[in-house]
Amino acid sequence: MRHSLLQFLSLLHNIQVEPGVRAAHSVSRVPDSLPRNMWELMTSETNFPLPPEALPRHLAIIMDGNGRWAQARGLSRSEGHRAGANTVRDIVTRCRELGIAHLTLYAFSSENWNRPRSEVSALFSLLLEFIQTEVPRMLREGISLKVFGDIEGLPLAVRTALKLAIKTTAKGTAMDLNLALNYGARAEIVRAVQKMLADGVKPEDVNEELISSCLYSAGQPDPDLVIRTSGEQRLSNFLLYQCAYAEFYFTPRPWPDFDKASLDEALADFARRQRRFGKTQEQVDAQETNASGGNV
Ligand code: FPP
Repeated sequence: MRHSLLQFLSLLHNIQVEPGVRAAHSVSRVPDSLPRNMWELMTSETNFPLPPEALPRHLAIIMDGNGRWAQARGLSRSEGHRAGANTVRDIVTRCRELGIAHLTLYAFSSENWNRPRSEVSALFSLLLEFIQTEVPRMLREGISLKVFGDIEGLPLAVRTALKLAIKTTAKGTAMDLNLALNYGARAEIVRAVQKMLADGVKPEDVNEELISSCLYSAGQPDPDLVIRTSGEQRLSNFLLYQCAYAEFYFTPRPWPDFDKASLDEALADFARRQRRFGKTQEQVDAQETNASGGNV
């Protein structure tokens, strides 16, 4: 462990940051100008990128099913997590290719400490390995690593590597890769309230923006789409405040089998959703007509 951390430190020392460009997004649906069947053909069969304005700006994923995937193959749960870590690499790559500007992955919840010690330790080893192998690529591709959660509660080696990786990749502007680690949404809200009280905020000054600015996701847009793999249909204490208007996509596929094509499928499904944010359909249509200068 110590040896590989030193290798990581020396590797980081020699790498330059290459700033990328954030994609601009406004509307989250398939352009009306494009016939639906042609658009589906472009996205599902020829791997043609989705139009940027149809993609979520912020995608959040609950990566579930590593254990069941492993058990179904007679493998250990840790081997399932290893397969899951490979999926993380593929999905980060695809999101970066598509220009998704914020990706949040639920990697370790505050409740996951209750798992067998061997599994928890396997998860942290995988995380360390991920940081060591992926930080150079993050630097090359302008990906900025962030942690949502109580980083101080993580094992020393993990938090040291994470803090260094966060600092080293901080200038990346193409994509935020947020790892939710030792994370729970209720604890995040409690922490935000404590921060406001400690700052002496007056009750009349509390508003939604202020609360958002006290969350781990401060400065980032709320998730537009939450994907959960492996069949469960719940939020499990993930980004409760931020997901007020998120769209949800549930798939029976376990996380290790969730490949780039599965992601494209989820994104295509999202692009077909009509998001109204509490407005009527007529108001949304009028808004889009105005935004396009009447050329819808
Ligand atoms: C849920 O599957 C998954 C987790 C608790 C951990 C997710 C971790 C990874 C994908 C690998 C390491 C992460 C990174 C960022 C390198 P589960 O074990 O609850 O599956 P089950 O419900 O089938 O038991």
